[in-house]
Amino acid sequence: MNGSPGALPDVIWNDSVGSTNDEAQARVAREDCIPVWIAAAEQTCGKGRLGRHWVSKPGNLYASLIWPSDAEPRRLASLSLVAGLAVRDAVVMAGVTAPVQLKWPNDVLVGGKKVSGVLIETMDRAGSRVVIVGCGINLLHHPADTRWPATNISACGIIIEPRDMLEHLRSAMHTRLRQWADGAGLASIHADWMNAALGCGGRISVEGGKQGVFTGLNEDGALVLTLDDGSAWTHHAGDVEWLDQRGSS
Ligand code: BTN
Repeated sequence: MNGSPGALPDVIWNDSVGSTNDEAQARVAREDCIPVWIAAAEQTCGKGRLGRHWVSKPGNLYASLIWPSDAEPRRLASLSLVAGLAVRDAVVMAGVTAPVQLKWPNDVLVGGKKVSGVLIETMDRAGSRVVIVGCGINLLHHPADTRWPATNISACGIIIEPRDMLEHLRSAMHTRLRQWADGAGLASIHADWMNAALGCGGRISVEGGKQGVFTGLNEDGALVLTLDDGSAWTHHAGDVEWLDQRGSS
């Protein structure tokens, strides 16, 4: 458990930082590990998953939550699903009415296009674990020529300021973290995630070349696919490509 159960973590706003995840890490390294959101109007070195760059010009939301956790290390992987669900909730709270889906592990899609990404990093401090949950939400613009097509919230006719979107996210993340409860609420998180998932039952290809049918999640939140020979394959990290449902359903 973290902080007082009813209190939302404070927010520290910056005009410009390299990366809000890096700012959060620097704060934790200074032994300041209380839950807090670090947000910025722009990032000059925004980080994406798998070592990619996250374009971070003003107008979109860039924010990272510092979250100390007593959860068993193997349960921490499921925080990725928790974060994706919270971002999805925030997008819905902003008024988006188009279908809002989750693409494993935590991309949020609006109308089949990526509107948000989450980068989770962990640190060890004085024998306990601190998780940095970095969230980027495209509010006003999105990059062109991405691996998966991208979009932004204004394309749905909704103009929202980063600070207002962070209020939705702060509230949604708090609710989802309480539901997760350091891993005790994993089953209901998995059920909610699967209800919003893109392409369950669809054919996918995972990094390394395996292809099969996306059938669900394992207890750590890893993606499970059924291969053509009927065996199950568990995919823990790396890209996933949808072979027959991209951008649909
Ligand atoms: C992805 O590749 O989909 C994840 C992108 C995560 C971007 C966010 S923006 C706020 C936080 N700070 C960063 O440098 N990255 C994350």
